[in-house]
Amino acid sequence: MSTVKFLSGENIPLEMHKVRMVQRINLLPVEERAQCMLEAGCNTFLLKNRDVFLDMLTDSGVNAMSENQYAAMMQADDSYAGSETFYRLEKVLHDIFGMKYFLPGHQGRACENIIARTMVTPGSVALMNFHFTTTKAHITLSGGSIEEIITDEGLKIKSTEPFKGDIDIGKLHEAINRLGKENICFVRVEAGTNLVGGQPVSMKNMREVSRICRDVGIPLVYDASLLADNLYFIKVREAEFKDAAIEDIALEIGALFDVVYFSARKLGSARGGGILTSSDKLYYKMREQVPLFEGFLTYGGMSVREMEAMAVGLRETMDIDIISQTPIFVEALCNEVIARGVPVVTPPGGLGCHLDATEFCSHVPQLQYRAGALAAAMYIASGVRGMERGTLSEQRNEDGSERLSEMELLRLAMPKRVFTLSQVKYTADRISWLFANRHLIGGLEFVEEPSVLRFFFGRLKPVGSWVEQLIRQFRNDFGDSL
Ligand code: F0G
Repeated sequence: MSTVKFLSGENIPLEMHKVRMVQRINLLPVEERAQCMLEAGCNTFLLKNRDVFLDMLTDSGVNAMSENQYAAMMQADDSYAGSETFYRLEKVLHDIFGMKYFLPGHQGRACENIIARTMVTPGSVALMNFHFTTTKAHITLSGGSIEEIITDEGLKIKSTEPFKGDIDIGKLHEAINRLGKENICFVRVEAGTNLVGGQPVSMKNMREVSRICRDVGIPLVYDASLLADNLYFIKVREAEFKDAAIEDIALEIGALFDVVYFSARKLGSARGGGILTSSDKLYYKMREQVPLFEGFLTYGGMSVREMEAMAVGLRETMDIDIISQTPIFVEALCNEVIARGVPVVTPPGGLGCHLDATEFCSHVPQLQYRAGALAAAMYIASGVRGMERGTLSEQRNEDGSERLSEMELLRLAMPKRVFTLSQVKYTADRISWLFANRHLIGGLEFVEEPSVLRFFFGRLKPVGSWVEQLIRQFRNDFGDSL
């Protein structure tokens, strides 16, 4: 990895790429931002992109692609069956993970649908370090349930533990003994654990989990959507891998799991997804589902152009200078705001900077969706769009009561190679202003609440007139600034 020292001693996340195509973005005045937020039902998913300045909603499908990815899109082989593009992509995936079979799916959740239909039986339990929203929804839809067995440290906002995504081995043993192996459909390890702040899983932990699952005979599934960041962290945080080639780390991971799946909207910086396995039995069962839900086996609902971009993007994931870009920018944003006392998930992980709404908005009741309120306030204060990852993103209990989230986070995602350091500094500046004025942020209440994945389309409104007060303070402090 290139280490560049600055004379000033500052730790600056230097870009190892240059920008050759740009997109104009707009920053609306604060009054208009507030209006847009209210019209969007205080839900950042419902904002129009034209009204967003820095889109930190997600890194899904919005990463910057390389010139080689664009070039590869030109050579795509467009055929319904047997496309050369498929075989090129299959070869890349085989080289990276060393697994026998590849099944294409149009995105990560499509793969989750196929895996859940194949492996989850009614009443069975999927054990995992932590759930992801779509993963849990598919498992539940197939009649199963999930249990989270992440280490206690993983749920602490502030920590110095380098691998907060690790599975707690004691909890794994306990769950197997309590539930019985026949009632566990699979154990799932999520790379770069999304909902606890993009926190990585160590190779040491994966080896241990794999050994236990193989001893007992429980299938082991890997969600590799956030693998790029996780590979980087294994290399820089796990001493054994300091000098290891990224290719060798990925191959070892492939050997530990029975099924690997991924969203290629994240991994490989394209759009699509896929499932890998070396098991003949699982392959033939999952294969039946692909033409039903995705498309023929050699495109699986994806455009062949995206598949070509994905193949190149996956190979580029083996380059430490490429995969380091997101984590070092996340760290830069976290460090800027930590220096001003703002509570964020530490150590900085991959994916984005995660503000801790529990502390940031401790005066807002959890039942008034403090992380959602912070997301709305952040957009009004800055034009930066983040994503609520807290109680709003949970599903209600069967009796209609709220399932309160363990963590109330506002995620400011860092799409790969998209934002510049000055944009990061602007974001940090507005976060700090908001933190200094946090007492002005109020709660939210539902106006329209969908029953499934409510955070996508749900509409809310502010409790009281806090939005007006926030605008007034902004004008006081920033004058006529945008
Ligand atoms: N697994 C993980 C860990 C994810 O982060 C995602 C998507 C999926 C599965 C589903 O993949 O979107 O291609 O269907 N995460 C996005 C996000 C939505 O914004 O974090 P998908």
